[in-house]
Amino acid sequence: MQLTWTHLARQSGALALCAMGASLALAQTPAKLKVGLMLPYTGTFASLGTAIENGFRQHVNELGGKIAGREVEYFKVDDESEPAKATDNVNKLIKRDQVDVLIGTVHSGVAMAMAKAAKESGTLLIVPNAGADAVTGAMCAPNIFRSSFSNWQPGYAMGEVMAKKGIKKVVTITWKYAAGDESVKGFKESFEKGGGMVVKELSLPFPNVEFQGLLTEIAATKPDAVFTFFAGGAAVKFVKDYAAAGLKTSIPLYGSGFITDGNLEAQGAAADGIITALHYADSLDTKRDKAFRLAYAKTFKMQPDVYAVQGYDAAQMLAIGLNATKGDATKAAEISAALGKATIDSPRGPFTISPSHNPVQDFYIRQAGAKENKKIGIASAKLADPGRGCKM
Ligand code: PHB
Repeated sequence: MQLTWTHLARQSGALALCAMGASLALAQTPAKLKVGLMLPYTGTFASLGTAIENGFRQHVNELGGKIAGREVEYFKVDDESEPAKATDNVNKLIKRDQVDVLIGTVHSGVAMAMAKAAKESGTLLIVPNAGADAVTGAMCAPNIFRSSFSNWQPGYAMGEVMAKKGIKKVVTITWKYAAGDESVKGFKESFEKGGGMVVKELSLPFPNVEFQGLLTEIAATKPDAVFTFFAGGAAVKFVKDYAAAGLKTSIPLYGSGFITDGNLEAQGAAADGIITALHYADSLDTKRDKAFRLAYAKTFKMQPDVYAVQGYDAAQMLAIGLNATKGDATKAAEISAALGKATIDSPRGPFTISPSHNPVQDFYIRQAGAKENKKIGIASAKLADPGRGCKM
């Protein structure tokens, strides 16, 4: 066909109309919400990172892929649970990808670097696991929130329970870094207040798993019980090594619930009977949790754990915050006010957010057996982290 001026004029008119339509459509469609997931996808915490991402996506999918009208777009960085790389990694999301919100991470040391970068840049941060007390303590800020726990919380809850049981002499064993140190500190605070005594504090560097020498030391010390914090792949090995060393029957092992959460399949009989404290359990028997678990298992072909719940709730918190600002992630004061008066309808049970932005929540006593961390009681109801050093 020969092109005439009339043809061309018609076509360019049509093009102009098209362009106008597109820009109108653009003006009406809000920009995508850029969500930066900074999580461990390799190393001893790899499965924890995956569970958090799964949980987060599950809630976003329930919302039709949008939060406060903005379509969610994901940017991902594997932080390797490596504090030395944390500042560079978080800046890939803040500076290179220019994300609206940071979701991360698992490891307390890495989370501290994220909190510092979030504070300096003003980027909204929701921590879906790492318990570093300072994140909602000395480092607290209007734009920093946590959907999980502070390291102090499960330690403190377990200490109360063990003291009430009449246990007197305890040896603690953990990794030498913020999460281990602060779990033991929280434990010691309530356990010693309740009349118990920590007679020895054992530790090894993160993420080492050479437990043998320390297990020999526990056997020689003969305490009434052991309190531990380990998590992820290393926790599987610790529980197996503890049983193989013959300690399981003579010196009961207790811990913050991360020791067995998500790990029972791999730990097998070595985990049977272990009592822990955590803000989630496998048998809560509520409508909310059952629906969550069913949907999670169907989508991801695996059972959810505490990490999946924390990821799911990070998305719930983000939605509550952004619904209050019509999708603007920079309005920290308004997001803070909205979350401050919210009750989050979590699979773990409803929880609120403390003035320093940490969950105020129930801690359950759980016992491992038949591949379940079964709820056997409440260790501490509506336990709030003291938020020491937080000035907002
Ligand atoms: C942490 O480093 O804060 C941490 C890691 C894994 C857990 C819990 C806490 O399961």
